[in-house]
Amino acid sequence: MKIVPLIADGKENLWNDCSDHSAFFGEVGAPLPPVEHLEHIRQRGGEKLAAFDRDQIVGWTGVIPSPDSDDAELAGIEVHRDYRRQGIATTLLSSAITWASTRGSRRLNFQTSPLFTANTMLYMRGFNASYSWNGNNWADPERTVPWPTVDCSIEFADTAYRSSIMQGSDLRSQSVLTWTRFEPEIRRHIGLSGPTFEVMHFPELDLPRVFTELREGNTGLCSTTARVFADLAANHYQFRAFESVGNGFYAYVFQRAET
Ligand SMILES: CC(C)(COP(=O)(O)OP(=O)(O)OC[C@H]1O[C@@H](n2cnc3c(N)ncnc32)[C@H](O)[C@@H]1OP(=O)(O)O)[C@@H](O)C(=O)NCCC(=O)NCCS
Repeated sequence: MKIVPLIADGKENLWNDCSDHSAFFGEVGAPLPPVEHLEHIRQRGGEKLAAFDRDQIVGWTGVIPSPDSDDAELAGIEVHRDYRRQGIATTLLSSAITWASTRGSRRLNFQTSPLFTANTMLYMRGFNASYSWNGNNWADPERTVPWPTVDCSIEFADTAYRSSIMQGSDLRSQSVLTWTRFEPEIRRHIGLSGPTFEVMHFPELDLPRVFTELREGNTGLCSTTARVFADLAANHYQFRAFESVGNGFYAYVFQRAET
């Protein structure tokens, strides 16, 4: 596998002339179609790093440095669905960090959904990303279903995940949620006099699964989880860790900030 900086190497045609981007540009939730997305990055002095398996694009990430701070924006990352779990996103994200740090950036900022468990494994566990709740997005144009979103930051000086003080499958029994298939229910409410740590566990989720659930009327997947994330934030609980708890489940651990 080879990583190519498409803009610096003058190889934008390898992206733009691609007849079908859907296998590696279908789940990223980018605000622009693929060709316009590359142009958007180019105009802002950024780079699109593409991973190739021979002449096939198997993944990419975008990175845009900020003109007036030492932040950079991660402008999307996606790996071809047939090439996942081979370390390609890890290599792309490491390359984006190297690219941005040689241009004076110290951190990558971006947004994602905390529902996407593979993403959190990559960002939080792979690169020690910090998550903070951003409750301002919607799953539908009518703005009836909230879309759980977090602001993420990866500090280049601190990318080593430190294991949680709470680990293991007992996290599941401490979760504020229970799940029936992909439908969550709130087991108990969050309060200011609650414990130091709170736990929210999730089945494995990605964008196609969440959209399928929404289409089938399971809006609680977004609205119930958004409500719990918002309650946790309102009660000063911060994202602290993300653990695999077995049987295809994952758990966020939150710690209440000293006030
Ligand atoms: C998230 C995504 C980019 C990860 O790509 P990838 O190349 O499969 O990731 P890697 O192989 O580098 O995985 C790195 C680590 O992340 C975790 N991870 C990745 N996919 C996972 C999955 N499906 N389930 C659990 N953990 C996963 C693992 O810890 C993995 O390390 P391991 O394989 O050694 O255990 C890919 O799933 C994807 O393209 N998703 C759709 C697009 C998207 O959501 N983009 C981000 C928008 S914010």
